Amino acid sequence: MRRIPLRMIGAVLLLAVAAPAMAAGDPARGEKLHQYCLGCHGTELYVPPRAKVKTLSALKKETERWNDRMNPKFSKQEIEDLVAWLNRDYYKFPN
Ligand code: HEC
Repeated sequence: MRRIPLRMIGAVLLLAVAAPAMAAGDPARGEKLHQYCLGCHGTELYVPPRAKVKTLSALKKETERWNDRMNPKFSKQEIEDLVAWLNRDYYKFPN
């Protein structure tokens, strides 16, 4: 068996430790972050009849998709915060 490089083990361990450390989305932070999303559209897209997103996972995907256009990009935690706010105030999908 080939030896596994130590730094790879380190990276895997770091991931295992870091992943559960991510907190649930904080809507109050998400609301503040959202001002940076207003370059292209306002909140009118998040309500009927404009809103197309139908599930919480789609909402998360959509937020990640638009984050690709952001510079600087939001972190994973900030995306969680944005989604939490969008869902609390607009989409209201069951968790
Ligand atoms: C480069 C311009 C641009 C930026 C920046 C942008 N958006 Fe959008 N966004 C759009 C456009 C255009 C649509 C509509 C796409 C469509 O109708 O299919 C959209 C759609 C959405 C939707 C789906 C609405 C729905 O239910 O149909 C969400 C959610 C969303 N954006 C969130 C965000 C968030 C959060 C950010 C900040 C991270 C962001 N957007 C930044 C252009 C942008």
